[in-house]
Amino acid sequence: MNVVSAKQDVEGRLKRGLLGQWYAAAKSVQVKAGRPLSSKIAGERVVMWRGKDGGVRCIEDFCPHRGARLSLGEVVENDISCRYHGVTMDGEGTIVKVPALANCALEGRRPLKSYPTREMADAVFIYVGSADQPVPTDEPKFPSEFTDPEWVTFLAMNRWKANYRDSIENVADPMHGSFLHANSFTLAYGKQQDTLKIERIEDGFCVKRVGQQGVNFDYTDMIMSEEQLYGRLDIPFPPAAGPGGPFRILAFTTPIDEDECYVFIWRLRKVSGFARESYRFLYRTLLESRHWDVLEQDREMIEALPADARRREMLYQHDIGVSRIRQLMSKKAKQQLEAERVPVQTLQAV
Ligand code: FES
Ligand SMILES: [Fe+2]
Repeated sequence: MNVVSAKQDVEGRLKRGLLGQWYAAAKSVQVKAGRPLSSKIAGERVVMWRGKDGGVRCIEDFCPHRGARLSLGEVVENDISCRYHGVTMDGEGTIVKVPALANCALEGRRPLKSYPTREMADAVFIYVGSADQPVPTDEPKFPSEFTDPEWVTFLAMNRWKANYRDSIENVADPMHGSFLHANSFTLAYGKQQDTLKIERIEDGFCVKRVGQQGVNFDYTDMIMSEEQLYGRLDIPFPPAAGPGGPFRILAFTTPIDEDECYVFIWRLRKVSGFARESYRFLYRTLLESRHWDVLEQDREMIEALPADARRREMLYQHDIGVSRIRQLMSKKAKQQLEAERVPVQTLQAV
């Protein structure tokens, strides 16, 4: 393979979305009992449904009989039945019933890809396997905040008409807070001039301001474990924002295809005792709409980036976080592509 086409392959993989990842695919409330939900994640069409037992399943949105969309069908117990001729699939992608023909030989076959699912912090995550990591590890490393009861959590989700890398890179760029969000409630403080540095942290790196901490959006931890990629940052809150410590953001992005992505933003605050309920109330009545305004500022800016902006951009010192995340993602894409090529080479050797 020549260098140019190898580069194009890496670019193609990054545009469509890294594989071997747990992606947030839907808010839990979107996967309603008895109603299949169609979606596209990293270019793959999937259907999710909640079975009678409450668990969420996810398989390809494709009926193995004639290709109808399973998402047009119906949930039967814990399985999904195609509306066209009734072929019924389970959550593993196995044909469990062909009702129109007795003893049909298709029963028991497993022609569809299935996606492991986890429901955490009001969202459904699905695992999209890669050649080098076709199945997830037994104990995926989801953020500890998801299971720590001390955190009060609110999830905001939106669909952006932008490539998912642009959303990830936005999080790896703390300096934009002082400009893009300069007129916002919580991000209006501190200096607009600084330098940035990078520090290694467990499962990733921290990109932080040198001359200011604890004032604004002054750092981001970019977490890139084996199976997840997200940003974590803290924003100090003014006293008007009620009791509790800083406001923590966990920012996940899910590629839909090359042109669109979902952003899942968890907004967390450690508030204890009585204050929890008053904070929840304050958040719902006052803070939430302000945070949506901030997220809309990001969406408008990122959606308006030209698709070929990367070809002409001129990075400067503040883009060290953007550069580092690009390097790490490219490395991962290369590993995945190499793992996909192995069987072909093995065959040729034989
Ligand atoms: S296409 Fe689904 S049952 Fe025929
Ligand atoms: Fe932002």
